[in-house]
Amino acid sequence: TRVAIVFGGRSPEHGISCVSAGSVFGALDPDEYEVVPVGITRAGQWVLTSGDPAQLAINARQLPEITAESGDDIVLRADPTGNGLMVLDPTEGPRVLADVDVVFPVLHGAYGEDGTIQGMLEMAGIPYVGANVFASAAAMDKEFTKKLCAAEGIPVGPYTVLRNGMTLSEQDKERLGLPVFVKPSRAGSSFGITRVTDWARLDEAVATARQFDPKVIIEAGIVGREIECGVLEGEAGGVPEASVLAEVRVVADHDFYDFEAKYLDDSCEYDIPAGLPEKVTRQVQEYAVRAFTALDCAGLARADFFVTPELDVYLNEINTMPGFTPTSMFPRMWAASGLEYPKLVNRLIRTAQR
Ligand code: DAL
Ligand code: MG
Repeated sequence: TRVAIVFGGRSPEHGISCVSAGSVFGALDPDEYEVVPVGITRAGQWVLTSGDPAQLAINARQLPEITAESGDDIVLRADPTGNGLMVLDPTEGPRVLADVDVVFPVLHGAYGEDGTIQGMLEMAGIPYVGANVFASAAAMDKEFTKKLCAAEGIPVGPYTVLRNGMTLSEQDKERLGLPVFVKPSRAGSSFGITRVTDWARLDEAVATARQFDPKVIIEAGIVGREIECGVLEGEAGGVPEASVLAEVRVVADHDFYDFEAKYLDDSCEYDIPAGLPEKVTRQVQEYAVRAFTALDCAGLARADFFVTPELDVYLNEINTMPGFTPTSMFPRMWAASGLEYPKLVNRLIRTAQR
């Protein structure tokens, strides 16, 4: 099987995608897969890279980066003779560099996790790992994730949406209370998020979020534990499966589980499986699978929740291409569920080709 791993990309999560891809490269059995490493620069240029995992790690707090110098310039084109994708060399003519059976877009955020590349791959008729166009777009957007999941009876916390130019009303301030989390509606890895404890700081927080998305979501801060659950598409048409749960505990000096805490310092402790009563565990897993289905996800997703001291469960969000970095929860939750990393990647690729 020839699999193109596409990574980097135009979103602010470029570097995280590179680290995720590095882990995926390391998990692919070379006897089974011929890997075509396709990097996308921040500017959107596609290059055929080395895919050397050693170059795709976080080093002294520096995230890896795909640049025009990371490899040869390429273009991708649908194979006119049938389903497939050709990686072409545009300079020499075009010469076919590789004919690809399946694409694994290890891309996070805009132009990767939001349905855009999925649309391109649909047009080309090429199998790809993960959610389709609709589910990707819906899950990328925190507003529509909440709307669709709430409609299926999954509890979500109070929130409001500020479209471009809108400001928060006094009624909403009263309804949401402090603190609130101000977030770009379509972003990831905590980019652009501020925890606001004083309404005087709201405008600044909204401006920060708008650097990433003109649409901003303001969520009531839920006092609770951060619990995550991995979901995989069922094998052979079966129902989706939930992993054991993970709890993230921010133990050092951070306002919340922000970018630094996620990737750059040792300020988090992880419990896998999370120490929750059996009944709550089953509730979270049931909600995770229901959310996966509500959004019409495929392949994989990670659903993130809050569990309050009263053991009420609230869905926070869904990620259709969760991180695969060494500290990321998705592969670790599946390993703890009995599915080791190489087997997980294998299953994702097999599911995509079905
Ligand atoms: N958006 C990051 C990669 C995650 O959800 O893991
Ligand atoms: Mg996210």
